[in-house]
Amino acid sequence: MTIVHAKHILSPDTILSDQAVAFDEKIVAIDSFDNLLGRYPDAKVIRFEDAVILPTFANPHVHLEFSANTATLSYGDFIPWLNSVIAHREELLTKCDEECIHKAIHAIIESGTSAIGQISSYGEEMEACAKSPLYIRFFNEVIGSNPAVVDAMYASFMERFARSQKLANDRFKADVAIHSPYSVHYILAKKTLEVAKKEECLVSVHFAESRTEREWLDSGTGEFLGFFKKFLNQTKPINEPLRFLQLFEETKNLFVHMVWAKDEEWELIKSFQSSIIHCPISNRLLGNGVLDLQKARPLPYALATDGLSSNYSLNMYEELRAALFVHPRNEAKAFAKELVIHATKIAHQILGFDAGEIAVGKPACLQVVDIPKDLKKLEEIYLHLILHTQSPQKVFIDGTEQK
Ligand code: BEZ
Ligand code: FE2
Repeated sequence: MTIVHAKHILSPDTILSDQAVAFDEKIVAIDSFDNLLGRYPDAKVIRFEDAVILPTFANPHVHLEFSANTATLSYGDFIPWLNSVIAHREELLTKCDEECIHKAIHAIIESGTSAIGQISSYGEEMEACAKSPLYIRFFNEVIGSNPAVVDAMYASFMERFARSQKLANDRFKADVAIHSPYSVHYILAKKTLEVAKKEECLVSVHFAESRTEREWLDSGTGEFLGFFKKFLNQTKPINEPLRFLQLFEETKNLFVHMVWAKDEEWELIKSFQSSIIHCPISNRLLGNGVLDLQKARPLPYALATDGLSSNYSLNMYEELRAALFVHPRNEAKAFAKELVIHATKIAHQILGFDAGEIAVGKPACLQVVDIPKDLKKLEEIYLHLILHTQSPQKVFIDGTEQK
């Protein structure tokens, strides 16, 4: 048994003061420190002064395979970025060996995250993910707009999916990612989603990320015209967005980005099991704009870093700060609280994992973070947590100290 005591606890919805948490793999009790010590006199005790205990984060959308990128890829605009991914993909993938994956996973855990949605294009990182302390939804991705490659791409997906299913357990789940409406042929998406439905997988899909994607899908114009002509010898988009979205009617879906989604698309995805993944730093760096959070709010939404292919960090505190600043019409204190709740409790719910709350019976996935010594108004703690935290002091996953 371990007892952790700090000045405050964020459940995350409520602020508890003068309480401590007792846990082994799960949280066993929340009570005053003296009561807990009386009940568990042999417990390991860790006490903090100006600190707060909160649940660890879930980061539902990362691309670990691209973790070798620092400044190889071009930021600023979507198509130059995509061109740079195509030009440097092999080099980046080769550089991201096992050590690189371990380093990325370590950085994720150290910065207070205990669950991720890993979007996997090739599956080389699968074993390292399955062995890590993280809870992982392992989204095996399909891509391929050319009808001639549908069978080969489906076969590659099935091989990776079957391999990930063999590794599956309570903390590592085999799931499905459909790259996007512009890059996955309708038949390939349909066949893959049939597998997802049968195997009851979560499905992740990039949707309405860029203005360029919008122009291409709506009218076959814009910068994608030259791109598709050059790389794929295609002159027309392969999917009509609403018809593509209808394929997701019977699966549980994570729609990633949604910056350029239209009202009728929002309405359609609201009619099935959908959540929204918001990546403000990635959207900023690739010149894609800002998600209309008002449109996302009727659905469960969470924040994600995306990969190091479109971010400088996998630390959720950076993403929380970015979210706070890219949505200036939201009152800062109330919005900070909303963001912390969505990055912990709601993000875990979206991934179907049980952590994300400090409550009896929940997995002991928690972080301890310093708070400013001069904090006067307790209700401002969420805002100051976001503004001042680089990294937590301590991280526990299922009761095991990670940092
Ligand atoms: C494709 O594989 O068809 C594809 C990949 C990236 C962007 C667009 C299309
Ligand atoms: Fe992504």
